[in-house]
Amino acid sequence: MEQLQQILDQALKQFAAISDEAELEQVKAKYLGREGSLTVLLKGLGKLSAEERPAAGARINQVKQGIEAALQQRRDALQQNKLAQQLAAESLDVTLPGRGLSTGGLHPVTHTLERIEQLFHSLGFATASGPEIERDFYNFTALNIPENHPARAMHDTFYIDPQHVLRTHTSPVQVHYMETHQPPLKIISPGRVYRVDSDATHSPMFHQVEGLWVDEEVSFANLKGVVQDFLQCFFEQDDLQVRFRPSFFPFTEPSAEIDMSWNGGWLEIGGCGMVHPNVLKHVNIDSEKYLGFAFGLGVERLAMLRYGVNDLRLFYESDLRFLKQFN
Ligand code: FA5
Repeated sequence: MEQLQQILDQALKQFAAISDEAELEQVKAKYLGREGSLTVLLKGLGKLSAEERPAAGARINQVKQGIEAALQQRRDALQQNKLAQQLAAESLDVTLPGRGLSTGGLHPVTHTLERIEQLFHSLGFATASGPEIERDFYNFTALNIPENHPARAMHDTFYIDPQHVLRTHTSPVQVHYMETHQPPLKIISPGRVYRVDSDATHSPMFHQVEGLWVDEEVSFANLKGVVQDFLQCFFEQDDLQVRFRPSFFPFTEPSAEIDMSWNGGWLEIGGCGMVHPNVLKHVNIDSEKYLGFAFGLGVERLAMLRYGVNDLRLFYESDLRFLKQFN
């Protein structure tokens, strides 16, 4: 009987000192397991006399129940502890300020394209579009640049196969449009174009806006007027410095390059000229009756000038520190 009391005291003391559930189960086995001290005592009951046995049995059971109850109590306490710890670790401070939503913005080149379209629409131009993967015929031949013509070399073309290119300019849209529409025609065509080119003012993918006006009485003076008007509105500057520099394009005659003052010098922003009679002939427009002018402007160049950006490649580096300035 004395031994039983000792076992109970010891078990209660040991349970109280344990702070790990797995360890608690191990210690339980020391008392209630197959070789446990209480189990051994139970097995020894048979050795007692018939008179002693009931009282001893009852006491052993009592101690067993005491141990089991203490065990359960300790288990509950440990689980409560664990839960409390978990809750503390996962607690949220709902009074902290939120992260806030950061809003995106349009890319500066998109802004520029939208502005260009808006201004030309106000001058009565409609918008047309064409494919970026273009047949060699539309990109070159129909624009009076036959095979082996040296002007093809000026374009540093990405070829897809011998018949298809990534269009090197938006001028092929002129041909597509004139094939399906009769004069008078007055369109612009903004879009992506591609060239094997890369430095501070050249990128392998860039945007151009083509312009085309074909009618019975269209002159080079009109071309200059439209381009000048557009640029003055675009840059919101009446005394803007624009220069038409004599140049050559196989699809226009006469031709000019359009320059604007930049960094103390000039930056070429586009090409233009009167549509070459051969181009009109390709699309069955009577070049005796109709005249036209066309121009192609570099959109990134216009964006550089408007926003004071000195390296065109910044537009395509996806650096948020740069892009956020335009929001
Ligand atoms: C042309 O592409 C002609 N199709 C323009 C034209 C249209 C002339 C209609 C006559 C009539 P050019 O290769 O010069 O021309 O390119 C036009 C403009 O695109 C350039 O003035 C420049 O502003 C821009 N540009 C050309 N290459 C690049 C490039 N790699 N990166 C960025 N902008 C470019």
